[in-house]
Amino acid sequence: MKVLTGIDEFRGARSSLGGSLGFVPTMGYLHEGHLSLIRKARGDCSHVVVSIFVNPTQFGLNEDLSKYPRDLKRDLDLIQPLGADIVWTPTPEIMYPGGFQTWVEVERLTQGLEGTMRPGHFKGVATVVAKLFNVVQPHKAYFGQKDAQQAAVIRQMARDLNFPLEVVVCPTVREADGLAMSSRNKYLDAEERKAAVVLFRALSAAKSAFDAGERNAEKLRQIVRNILAAEPHAKTQYVSCADYDTLEELELIKGNTLLSMAVMLGKTRLIDNFVIGP
Ligand code: PAJ
Repeated sequence: MKVLTGIDEFRGARSSLGGSLGFVPTMGYLHEGHLSLIRKARGDCSHVVVSIFVNPTQFGLNEDLSKYPRDLKRDLDLIQPLGADIVWTPTPEIMYPGGFQTWVEVERLTQGLEGTMRPGHFKGVATVVAKLFNVVQPHKAYFGQKDAQQAAVIRQMARDLNFPLEVVVCPTVREADGLAMSSRNKYLDAEERKAAVVLFRALSAAKSAFDAGERNAEKLRQIVRNILAAEPHAKTQYVSCADYDTLEELELIKGNTLLSMAVMLGKTRLIDNFVIGP
């Protein structure tokens, strides 16, 4: 497994990889969620590239860029046994050299949900992922359903800008009690960690109602809101029941639907979602 930093050295190594290439972009501090994407890429493709880059342009001014957890040695120890060919670890100076001024903006899909709560976030995400795609030139790129709006934005961006690749979205990996894995979970204290299962409980209750025949989107949102409101540690930011592709809020559920939420647990912001549909 090669660990490379510069773009020229990466391109040199990339050019010797024949066959199909699977790419897993990450910001490091890997957990089972990330590893599941690498395993899937390994199963699908002849070669696998993982990138580790904490992308400064997707963090808001009040967000935790300097505090974002980093541990490259641990990450490499986790990736090694999975059989990736190259781990690419560019620096901010390499990705954003002085004079950088070109951005990728996906317009409608970034307007609601996380886009409303985190202005500018998806401009940073779409731009860095476009740059990563240009350097890595993968055939398939792997993203987690955990970040549902991000996956939708990348799918749209790849289509709109004619990237010759397939965006593969993989299921959310969860802890035993249902909490979606996230690098942010380590900020939760013991009480908040116990309370955090409320996101999964709320989604499960709404899904049960859907399975029992409920098709009114507002009723499902209300089930989620009520369960979240009963947990004193949780402060709800939004609850959404939207079309899976357009992310527009629904009145009636007909096709694939994204049920999603953002919740503060103390100072930690958690997101989670289920995809439901007939
Ligand atoms: P990061 O938060 O490191 O996540 C990297 C990938 O892992 C994303 O596609 C994310 O959706 C996926 N992931 C995270 N938790 C998961 C879980 N519990 N189950 C399954 N997949 C999970 O997302 C980013 O980095 C960045 O925005 C990036 C795309 C790398 C651009 O900077």
